[in-house]
Amino acid sequence: MFNVLHYDTIDSTNDEVRRLAAEGADHGTVVHADAQTAGRGRLARTWHSPAGNLYMSALLRLDLPPQRLAELSFVAAVAVAETVAGLLPKSAAVVVKWPNDVLVDGGKIAGILIETVAGVTILGIGLNVLLAPTTAGYKTATIAALGGIATVDGARDLLLHELERLITHWLDQGFPPIRQAWLDRTYPVGTRLRVNVGTDVVEGTFADLDLDGALLLETDSGRRRIVVGDVSAG
Ligand code: BTN
Repeated sequence: MFNVLHYDTIDSTNDEVRRLAAEGADHGTVVHADAQTAGRGRLARTWHSPAGNLYMSALLRLDLPPQRLAELSFVAAVAVAETVAGLLPKSAAVVVKWPNDVLVDGGKIAGILIETVAGVTILGIGLNVLLAPTTAGYKTATIAALGGIATVDGARDLLLHELERLITHWLDQGFPPIRQAWLDRTYPVGTRLRVNVGTDVVEGTFADLDLDGALLLETDSGRRRIVVGDVSAG
């Protein structure tokens, strides 16, 4: 399914996939760069991208309505979490944090950025293999520092294998098995969470993942459904 194009340095692998998509590139085209000069994260943040980590984006031509595309976030998070767990010692606690962060021992080890342009979905993934950016403003983790064994290319191949498996499963079976796999890897029900939603902070406890992927939070004023936000434990 995937066809990898390798670059030494590029602005952003998501941007290169966008350009290739405009030229008609196929479903499954993957751009992998050793380094990015303009790596982007969620919420318009910079994703520092020196050589030593994995930066890749996949072009997906999915024939799905927009509300179902939101599910891809969880497919990707589970694929990254399973890949990371496979590279680390068994004792490492690999956890997914809504909507699609992957943490190990509380440190963020990967980031996922999904963009949709003209009917094409771009799935961008950054995975900390050797280096943890110190400027991120939150705790980070790397495969190497956690005692894992991986080269960047090895991690890429395992991740693409897992993505192919889970995307196929999702397209065949729908969201329920992905939702369950995500729930199996997230914090326990009742965990206290703070969620930044725009200018507001909502506090409560984790209740569930809704059937469409929204976060369900138990708050003092009742259950809240959160569709976009940034979660921190607390
Ligand atoms: C996040 O904010 O957590 C998402 C980070 C996504 C980073 C990856 S690295 C490969 C791809 N290219 C980019 O510019 N961003 C994504």
